[in-house]
Amino acid sequence: MIVTIDEDRCRGHGVCCSLCPEVFALTDDGYAAVQVPQIRAGLQEAVRSAALRCPERAITVS
Ligand code: F3S
Repeated sequence: MIVTIDEDRCRGHGVCCSLCPEVFALTDDGYAAVQVPQIRAGLQEAVRSAALRCPERAITVS
């Protein structure tokens, strides 16, 4: 699984960080960044949930 965040879309709502803090964190600028290069199996459902719930649809999972 590959997860990316569209920096132009992210508005720093933080839903992703709340749902899956192992993968997403807010930077000092207040936008989300992916913390790990590979998403292990146990976190994939949480990552998909974050992608669905991001108000800006900034998260892409492939
Ligand atoms: Fe940004 Fe969406 Fe997360 S707006 S902080 S990627 S919930």
